Amino acid sequence: MTFKTLDDIAPASRTVLVRADLNVPVQDGQVTDATRLVRLVPTLKELASKGAKVVVLSHFGRPKNGPDEKNSLRQVVPALSDALGAPVAFAGDCIGKPAQDAIRALEKGQVLVLENLRFHAGEEKNDPAFAADLAKLGDIYVNDAFSAAHRAHASTEALARLLPAAAGRLMQAELVALSKALGQPQRPVAAVVGGAKISTKLDLLLNLVGKVDILALGGGMANTFLYAQGVDVGASLAEKDMADQARAILAKAEAGGCQILLPKDGAVAKQFKAHAPSRIAAPGDIAADEMILDAGPATVAYYGEKLATAKTVVWNGPMGAFEIEPFDAATNAVAKIVADLTKAGTVLSVAGGGDTVAALEHAGVADAFSYISTAGGAFLEWLEGKELPGVKALEE
Ligand code: 3PG
Ligand code: MG
Repeated sequence: MTFKTLDDIAPASRTVLVRADLNVPVQDGQVTDATRLVRLVPTLKELASKGAKVVVLSHFGRPKNGPDEKNSLRQVVPALSDALGAPVAFAGDCIGKPAQDAIRALEKGQVLVLENLRFHAGEEKNDPAFAADLAKLGDIYVNDAFSAAHRAHASTEALARLLPAAAGRLMQAELVALSKALGQPQRPVAAVVGGAKISTKLDLLLNLVGKVDILALGGGMANTFLYAQGVDVGASLAEKDMADQARAILAKAEAGGCQILLPKDGAVAKQFKAHAPSRIAAPGDIAADEMILDAGPATVAYYGEKLATAKTVVWNGPMGAFEIEPFDAATNAVAKIVADLTKAGTVLSVAGGGDTVAALEHAGVADAFSYISTAGGAFLEWLEGKELPGVKALEE
């Protein structure tokens, strides 16, 4: 890996465009886990203290039809300002006059956040014209969004080729730490993969089963696999049109000697809300109007036993709907098992992803993991051995 860092640029009196990942979990307008913001602060502070105008670019959520309040980055600004310990300005668009005016008004050493890049279709299309509109705004490009580096989008890929480019301190730290921890992982390697982003992660699992020895599935991901095996999952979150792909992954795992672990039981409820009446049910015993909201105790015991045989554990995605009690139980329990194995020195553990880090914080065990990455999908793709477009663009 050879790329420039903040040591190689001269940011004084320059406008520096920092591609950050402000895609943090937000509930009712409040940031519920500020890890990504806190980890971004060293780069912002360093550039500000060197006299740059610091302009932060980021996506937030997955808006598909232009601007909407729910996906506005405005709601993240107060939490970023808290993390930074300084005021943070905001512009209501990431290109054009609103952005230009806000940058003109910015003093050296100040930080500005521009509105969600994904409000423009050109971002996800890696559109050169959109990248050029972004490039016009600044003199230097710094990419500190390791967690978005698996996306070849205008702000992570095309823009890096239009301005002098460098990696930020977080990008640098993530790449160094992951290479050290997982460059030559000790076997057996177990991956715990859960969460709700099923379709985008399925592709990744197909490669991952070729790299890891154990794959423990949870959340909507597990439901999709149960469904693919002919289990009636009722009203559970599952991507039923992905069943063929799930079966292909199961077949590849079986042929290659990777054990895929699926839940043996789950907490099922009729409503997706905190303290909804629930019961523990086995796969095959789920009514049409019930949803699996968490893994059950038999699953926790089974996963715990298997994870104890691993030397390396990587984790992305919660076991259930950990944001609503009591459906955080399995995520908390499995997190505690991995934390205890790490403390005992038998396992090296790396976890990543916005929701995952929030879940581990919630379980009170984040500090016990060997390394916490701010990245979810990007860290799994890195683990697959894929070249990340956002990193590659910095190297060129
Ligand atoms: C993430 O939260 O994993 C990153 O911010 C990337 O988001 P995306 O999966 O919507 O591209
Ligand atoms: Mg992700």
